[in-house]
Amino acid sequence: DKGEYRHYMMKEIYEQPKVIAACLEGRISETKVLTSCFGVDSSFLKDIENVHIVACGTSYHAGMVAKYWIEDLAGLPCSVEVASEYRYRKVAVPKNTLFLTLSQSGETADTLAALRMAKELGYLTSLAICNVPSSTLVRESALTLLTNAGAEIGVASTKAFTTQLTALLITSIAIASEKGALSAEKEAELVTSMRSLPAHIDEALKQDAAIKKVSDRFANKHNALFLGRGPMFPIALEGSLKLKEISYIHAEAYPAGELKHGPLALVDEDMPIITLVPHNNMLDKLKSNLQEVAARGGELYVFADKDTDLHNEDGVIFTEVPKVDEILEPIVHTIPLQLLSYHVAVVKGTDVDQPRNLAKSVTVE
Ligand code: M6R
Repeated sequence: DKGEYRHYMMKEIYEQPKVIAACLEGRISETKVLTSCFGVDSSFLKDIENVHIVACGTSYHAGMVAKYWIEDLAGLPCSVEVASEYRYRKVAVPKNTLFLTLSQSGETADTLAALRMAKELGYLTSLAICNVPSSTLVRESALTLLTNAGAEIGVASTKAFTTQLTALLITSIAIASEKGALSAEKEAELVTSMRSLPAHIDEALKQDAAIKKVSDRFANKHNALFLGRGPMFPIALEGSLKLKEISYIHAEAYPAGELKHGPLALVDEDMPIITLVPHNNMLDKLKSNLQEVAARGGELYVFADKDTDLHNEDGVIFTEVPKVDEILEPIVHTIPLQLLSYHVAVVKGTDVDQPRNLAKSVTVE
């Protein structure tokens, strides 16, 4: 039932504060990630020395964000790969590696094949972050962390993605804590931040009407470029996937520092550039990337908090994103991009919930 919404996708976008709260529920105390969150005592995490993440599509993008968190918080090497590549190559598995899969449906053929292959490769254990408790992936994995997002009907994944990120943040903190890489104070700080996520998502959703207005400008565009740096790069990838998936506009994403190495040649007044601006030490670098684009007449769509000093001006369309702790930025910045792709698709009159050629669950390779 779509309730008051015209499409499932919009309903699912608006469910995010509630389902992220459901994903956190029972997994964190006031100050810590609970040791019971994987269904077994989390002390097994002490032995992990490496992490391999394998997934497809949007789930793969969630995994890419987790690489930043795991390497940053736990100091462990982490690799991320799409399942359709992983399953057909010879993978070198270092000692004490965790095999982590991500899947909304738990029925994606390539991800299941990767898990089955991994079982022969001597991993420490397998953990599935999944939204469907009765799925094959959950049944066949040693450990599970459910995302608790509820059924997702729209083919374009929205709430499944942000709850995957939430579950991955829980997992990254749990690993870092068990490995002794995180002080009790830092863990308490991160957990407190996480608790504020639903409220920040609510706030981000308030830009809906403003983003709807911006989306009109995309109706006659054929291409779009998304830029981000650090953990915002996978969010740029996810934003570009969402736009191409439901509005059929060709979109690409680049780490902003790569601009000069090729994509800058594409930039002219017909090319909207969507930039995710984090509030960290990369801010100045990113601003200089934006100047490079502006100098070539590119139309800039900037998503940033108001303390970045960015604002509407000639050639710059500014959308405010709530200011949050750095660790939460990738999750909160996802919201305006979901809204943008949704409204662009509505303007273009495409089938938002059931885009052409795509299936919700890709059970064949
Ligand atoms: O069910 P899964 O998370 O394993 O699905 C993986 C991809 O097929 C899926 O994320 C796909 O990319 C979405 N339609 C993107 O919105």
